[in-house]
Amino acid sequence: MLLFRYILFLYTTTIYAEVHIKQQNNVQKILHETLKKERTSPPSIKIPYKKEYGDVTVNPHNFTFISQPEPCEGNETILVTAHSATQNFQRRSALRNTWANPIILEKYLPKGHQSKLIFILGLPSNSSEQTLINYEQEMYGDLVQVNFMDHYRNNTYKAIYNMKWISSYKGCPKAKLVVKVDDDVIFNLQAFSSFFKNFTDTLGDSFKLSSYFIAGNIGESGRPQRDPASKWYLSRKDYKYDTFPMWLQGLTYFLSPRLAKEIYNLSFTTPYIFTDDVYVGIVAGRVDEIRKYPFNQFYSNSFSRLAKQSKYWNKKPYVFYHSHSIEDFFRLWCLSCNPATCDWCSQAKV
Ligand SMILES: *[C@@H]1O[C@H](CO)[C@@H](O)[C@H](O)[C@H]1NC(C)=O
Ligand SMILES: *[C@@H]1O[C@H](CO)[C@@H](O)[C@H](O)[C@H]1NC(C)=O
Ligand SMILES: *[C@@H]1O[C@H](CO)[C@@H](O)[C@H](O)[C@H]1NC(C)=O
Ligand SMILES: *[C@@H]1O[C@H](CO)[C@@H](O)[C@H](O)[C@H]1NC(C)=O
Ligand SMILES: *[C@@H]1O[C@H](CO)[C@@H](O)[C@H](O)[C@H]1NC(C)=O
Ligand SMILES: *[C@@H]1O[C@H](CO)[C@@H](O)[C@H](O)[C@H]1NC(C)=O
Repeated sequence: MLLFRYILFLYTTTIYAEVHIKQQNNVQKILHETLKKERTSPPSIKIPYKKEYGDVTVNPHNFTFISQPEPCEGNETILVTAHSATQNFQRRSALRNTWANPIILEKYLPKGHQSKLIFILGLPSNSSEQTLINYEQEMYGDLVQVNFMDHYRNNTYKAIYNMKWISSYKGCPKAKLVVKVDDDVIFNLQAFSSFFKNFTDTLGDSFKLSSYFIAGNIGESGRPQRDPASKWYLSRKDYKYDTFPMWLQGLTYFLSPRLAKEIYNLSFTTPYIFTDDVYVGIVAGRVDEIRKYPFNQFYSNSFSRLAKQSKYWNKKPYVFYHSHSIEDFFRLWCLSCNPATCDWCSQAKV
């Protein structure tokens, strides 16, 4: 009896929530169906879509770059590409003036590395915002703009066209590492400096040879959000499997330009889902020779509150922090900033 109740509980709550139970009291039938479905339920999946779609285009897209940044100066090895929403002028400015600024970042990179910062955005819905973006491009020359409407449901297009831009852009011939970030991430540069050494040591030859690699906050067993009330809801029609082959946090991840190209290529044969990091994880999982490097312990994502984050900033520093507001971004940044050299930090009241 207990076992039956347990199975019924599973049946009605988690596993087959969407199956409508009409005959609650038909014990035999429910039990029978539960066991039958258990056997035929979609398996966990290591490489989704590979077999089904092969070369079939299931995600047609053909957007255009309407604006592109200035080429590299010549020797940049690291491309920092930030997903940004069109209206996030302040966020972009914050990145340009803090850790992602090439002059600042390069001080924390090993000799021989130079970086370039670019932002990728879609189209705003309002033309005065586009006018501001045009000024911004004239001023900084660091925007990639693609002609889809900027909306979180279109974030996967942002990822796909970021990959396309990286792999087709001839402006940075020496780039061998892509650092994909969201515009609200903040790097603790002191900690990043040793992280980067560990990172390149760990990658060894695959870094030098620019083979297919991805590194970041990576999990093996993500599950799709099946609660229709959630912002991240994915129906079984959107994604039919019960697990993701790889879970990748979008906040910051690293990949080779060669992998970027392959992800762009495979995007046509991988059904669209709007959660861009999950999508990139799924597509990357289809690349046979992919090497995955989980650096999860360097991410502070378990802390949401500024107070907690700042407590850890100097004592046991994580490398990658998420800032909920632009104010928090600067407060965290100022923790690592010498007040003598950035006077605006004294006003930030850390
Ligand atoms: C994409 O669109 C461009 C024009 O915007 C067109 O020239 C090109 O043929 C299209 N490519 C595909 C694959 O549909
Ligand atoms: C690029 O590096 C080479 C040698 O490593 C150097 O001669 C050249 O001046 C550098 N170019 C720029 C634009 O820094
Ligand atoms: C248009 O965009 C600008 C800049 O982001 C914003 O200040 C303004 O409120 C927007 N106007 C409308 C009608 O949404
Ligand atoms: C995504 O972009 C396309 C192309 O611009 C647009 O038609 C669509 O409305 C956008 N989606 C959302 C949810 O805004
Ligand atoms: C993807 O790569 C394969 C093999 O290199 C090639 O045959 C195919 O045309 C590419 N597809 C696209 C959409 O670029
Ligand atoms: C370097 O990174 C690896 C992989 O995340 C980790 O296991 C190792 O402890 C790190 N070493 C140092 C010195 O941080």
